[in-house]
Amino acid sequence: MRQPLIAGNWKMNGSSQSISELLDGVISGLESKAEVLVCPPAIYIQQVRDILRGTGVKWGLQNVAAETKGAYTGETSPLMAKDLGCEYAIIGHSERRTLYKETDQDVAAKFCCLVDQGITPVLCVGESLEERQRGDTMKVVAAQIDCVIEKAGIERLSDFVIAYEPVWAIGTGLTATPEQAQEVHAAIRGLLSRTSEEVAQKTRILYGGSMKAANAAELVAQPDVDGGLIGGASLVAEDFKAICHAAG
Ligand code: PGA
Repeated sequence: MRQPLIAGNWKMNGSSQSISELLDGVISGLESKAEVLVCPPAIYIQQVRDILRGTGVKWGLQNVAAETKGAYTGETSPLMAKDLGCEYAIIGHSERRTLYKETDQDVAAKFCCLVDQGITPVLCVGESLEERQRGDTMKVVAAQIDCVIEKAGIERLSDFVIAYEPVWAIGTGLTATPEQAQEVHAAIRGLLSRTSEEVAQKTRILYGGSMKAANAAELVAQPDVDGGLIGGASLVAEDFKAICHAAG
């Protein structure tokens, strides 16, 4: 059985005060069988750690360098993230790929560096609206995943998460239907099983893209949807908690 994971991607939002309030709201009355994770802006990781330590809610990064230390001005090291108790880091988010021109190779390098430091990568993949309309969804998603598998090798695939986030659904209020999500998630699991059936069965595949309290339960009810990566709704404590509760 795969334990559902509900992960909040706060993106570049919040202040030290709003983060304290948000986390207080998330922690109070949270009861979920899902693993719960928040990914604040890196600058607030220490504050978030201090609030969350001992609560069961985990914290992680939204992005990470592919190196552990050295002359990389402005980057965030996986080693430092580990030092501050991060268990997860999101990589390859579509905003990173689009706005910062991150390539599949860049993402694969980050994946390897994270795994080597004992941090679980949350690898984001997904197609644009144009790609979906051309019928290229799985071609795009498979290329994004294959590049990582090739570089990482089977030995680095023991613990990672995939987040399927159709770009057309991110922050738009449009959500993939449960059937659309399930179709892609099942195809991703099929893709993983070509490398290893064990990896395919244990790897959690999250859905992301306008997941909210109102649609979370039916998405997570799909057999291959193992939780969610939540943007906008993770900034409102009651909404995020409702999603966690919908997941089990
Ligand atoms: P959204 O963002 O929930 O606001 O659509 C999801 C994401 O970008 O991870």
